[in-house]
Amino acid sequence: MIAVVQDRYGPPARTLRVAQVEVPRPGRGEVRVRVHATSVHADIWHVIHGRPLPLRFMGSGLRRPLPPIPGTDVAGTVDAVGSGVTAFRPGDRVFGSTVRRHEWVHCGAWAEYAVARDDRLVALPADTSFAQAATLPSAGHIALQNLRDDVRAGPGRSVLVNGAGGAVGSIALQVTRGRGAHVTAVELPRKLDLVRRLGAEQVVDGTADDFTTHVGRYDLVFDVPGTRPYRRCLRALAPGGRYLTIGHEAYGRRGNRILGIMPGFFALMLRARFDERLRGPGTPLPDRSTTLAELGRLLHEGVLDPVVDRVLPLDRAVEALDVLTSGANVGAVVLAPNP
Ligand SMILES: NC(=O)c1ccc[n+]([C@@H]2O[C@H](COP(=O)([O-])OP(=O)(O)OC[C@H]3O[C@@H](n4cnc5c(N)ncnc54)[C@H](OP(=O)(O)O)[C@@H]3O)[C@@H](O)[C@H]2O)c1
Repeated sequence: MIAVVQDRYGPPARTLRVAQVEVPRPGRGEVRVRVHATSVHADIWHVIHGRPLPLRFMGSGLRRPLPPIPGTDVAGTVDAVGSGVTAFRPGDRVFGSTVRRHEWVHCGAWAEYAVARDDRLVALPADTSFAQAATLPSAGHIALQNLRDDVRAGPGRSVLVNGAGGAVGSIALQVTRGRGAHVTAVELPRKLDLVRRLGAEQVVDGTADDFTTHVGRYDLVFDVPGTRPYRRCLRALAPGGRYLTIGHEAYGRRGNRILGIMPGFFALMLRARFDERLRGPGTPLPDRSTTLAELGRLLHEGVLDPVVDRVLPLDRAVEALDVLTSGANVGAVVLAPNP
């Protein structure tokens, strides 16, 4: 089969190539998917570059990314099932995640065929395209893991999503709207129409209006880009409100060259031990099977309507990453190994 492979860390144009590799075999409890669509997202950029450096100590390989095929999200048809799999049959339309432990390693989805655990795949609704579904597993996992069942995102509550037109933010926006919250979306000017279309009731141009001056307005601030100091973000919270940080290195343009945005993130985690406006450690996180099942349900119910900017063939993976990192896309960038 054809796959994108990487033999050393570095810029995609110098390190990615398309190659013939062996078709993977599904093991016990695993499913092989013929991949019709796979997403291009920020964490894949991180693994391709081997940055921040600690990810190389988390299983990705010190000198070269292992395994060598990028990609974490798939949508396609079941091609073969391993022993013990009863939930799927060849020909089923599915979407899900090829992540095994965590996504700071390449997970093999940028290929004609990929293998996933059977509990990390769900049925694809008939009216959802492969490209739309492929945008959801990783970004949706982050959004749902952070939102959980926080009552501050519930009916009648006031939620602000900063970066609401991006991959994670657009899911947070739609999910909180679906739960009945009033949502204010902060974005760059060219994505304001998109966030309006996704259901935001108030729209804020992040380049012209500083949301941290909206003192005491929001029960929940879901902050993806982290463009304002968090101490100032806390001012936007209503009494009892919560600040959720996702964080974004903006492809090496923010943060420290070696540690990226990790120092700021860990500082917030420490502060969370005594500041109730931040979520403290120790609260249980939903796993990928749980968030995938919820994403499947939200798609079926029409709460989620994923927006795709463009679909490119596998051999244009470098161009797909260029589009993502230059911010030229409004909606997700997707690769189609089997168009
Ligand atoms: N997407 C995934 O599947 C995925 C998977 C694993 C981990 N993650 C992680 O999750 C984090 C978020 O990723 P993401 O994929 O959601 O990123 P994203 O799609 O780039 O979303 C961030 C959004 O914030 C916007 N933005 C930038 N500056 C802003 C400002 N000053 N005010 C308001 N909005 C602004 C960006 O616009 P521009 O694009 O124009 O800059 C973009 O729409 C990253 O740390 C990423 O590594 C994502």
